[in-house]
Amino acid sequence: MPPTTGRWGRTIAVTRLATGLILFFYVLTHNLNHALGLISFPAMEAGRTVFLAFWRFEPIEIVLLLAALAHLSIGLRALYRRKSLRMPVPEAAQLILGLCIPPLILLHIIGTVVSHDLYGIDDRYAYVLWVLWVLQPGLGAMQSVALVVSWFHGCIGLNYWLRVKPWFPALQPYFGGLALMIPILALLGFVAGGREVAEWAEDPAWPARLAAEINMPSQDQVAFLYRLRDWLMVAFFAIVGGVFAARVVRTLATRRRAIAVSYPDGKRVVIQPGTSLLEASRIGGIPHASVCGGRSRCSTCRVRVIEGAEALPPPLEEEQRVLTRIHAPPGVRLACQARPTGAVTIQPLLPPQVTAQKALFGSDISQGKEQEVAVLFADLRGFTSMAERRLPYDVVFLLNQYFRVTGEAIVAAGGHVDKFIGDGVMAVFGLKGRPELASAQALDAARRMALALETFNAQHHAELKTPFRIGIGIHFGPAIVGEMGFPPALSLTAIGDTVNTASRLESATKEENCQLLISETVALGAELPGDIGRRCEISLRGREQRLVAIAIDNAAALPASA
Ligand code: FES
Repeated sequence: MPPTTGRWGRTIAVTRLATGLILFFYVLTHNLNHALGLISFPAMEAGRTVFLAFWRFEPIEIVLLLAALAHLSIGLRALYRRKSLRMPVPEAAQLILGLCIPPLILLHIIGTVVSHDLYGIDDRYAYVLWVLWVLQPGLGAMQSVALVVSWFHGCIGLNYWLRVKPWFPALQPYFGGLALMIPILALLGFVAGGREVAEWAEDPAWPARLAAEINMPSQDQVAFLYRLRDWLMVAFFAIVGGVFAARVVRTLATRRRAIAVSYPDGKRVVIQPGTSLLEASRIGGIPHASVCGGRSRCSTCRVRVIEGAEALPPPLEEEQRVLTRIHAPPGVRLACQARPTGAVTIQPLLPPQVTAQKALFGSDISQGKEQEVAVLFADLRGFTSMAERRLPYDVVFLLNQYFRVTGEAIVAAGGHVDKFIGDGVMAVFGLKGRPELASAQALDAARRMALALETFNAQHHAELKTPFRIGIGIHFGPAIVGEMGFPPALSLTAIGDTVNTASRLESATKEENCQLLISETVALGAELPGDIGRRCEISLRGREQRLVAIAIDNAAALPASA
């Protein structure tokens, strides 16, 4: 198989989409025409007049025929290019439904469009429904199946196309409703029309009258149309069979040239040349996101190449466009486009169930980046000894109440609750918006937390022998932020020296006997008035230089603007 250049690949992708949309529009209008049968038979026929005025306009008819041939050819080409038939259920459904369409609709097309174009037969609804509903109900059932199959084949393709659009999730339920409603209405319209025609056909003179009106085909013409159906059917199955045979030949020819794709957890998948990294994951049963179904649109399949980057040909235009769009760092590739020629080790970067919106339009934070943030640590003083004297239920109740007011204070100040650790909390400020506001936001959160604690102690004074006390430490500086963990325990968090320093400041509140201890960087960043707090120096583990900090006895007394 010749290598696909970027421009050629893009042309094929655009053609596949354009022809798919043309065919979907045809099926949609065909179904809506059927649905008019629910209103009345004359409405159905009137709708058909409009339908045919458009679709049988010669240039449009040619475009439709070419679209069908091109779409089928591109689909068969994609089937050949797949190195593995392991695929997600929607992709498999789209492929199987697509392959079913030609044999299902061939006779119908020959009996309507071809017989009209060759012999001038008027294939009006009365004629078609007489054949499908009265004379050959089995054929009618087959066309009903064809209607559903072609509709859902198109819906799956549309869904793959639209699901990467930022506005799609909000409208998805409505599209889903239409996707179900339209074929149901079409089938009900077909049934209503069929029953009406069946009543007319009870009159023995009606078929003869109809035959005269529509220029009924002769016996010879019908025989030729059936022969044409048989030839086309044989040709179709020969082509599809040829594609599968070519796949087998290719597999046999390349089986000695095995390539190993390794993953950080030690899994190893052996593939043949030409197999994409996404297909490698599927062959190995390794969960791998692929929202657009490998069409180079969503970027959810992206991987970091840990070893063997030289065994991957450079990205083609299509892949590069997406990588540029997501600001992918060097060493990141789209697994659905990258086809290794030698051993590689890769790491899928997104969880398998990620959405395209998150992958394409989410912030860089979710993928990990270094940025300046303010980190706040707070810890309850004496809670452990208090908990030892209480029932577990009381402990959990009080702690959850405290977490609630603390979390609300952090969020109200513009922070992100990173995690609750035992009876402590970690929060990060400056993840969104302007980082220069992070220190002021963190100080505001400390003030709100102290105020909330005062209220909490007042509300629970009957249950608490001694009021809760809190120690808070805040530092500002660079940290690595990103979604860390493993699905479903994946959360946005920060790591690095800034986090360790904030934690150290929190524990040093005991030594300094204060409620809040902030680094000088935070005080400067928040423009804290110089007369607030007292300066002190804190030792940091592994560092000779001591950290200059400001100790504040009562954070509740901080000015609201600090
Ligand atoms: S699966 Fe969508 S870009 Fe690779």
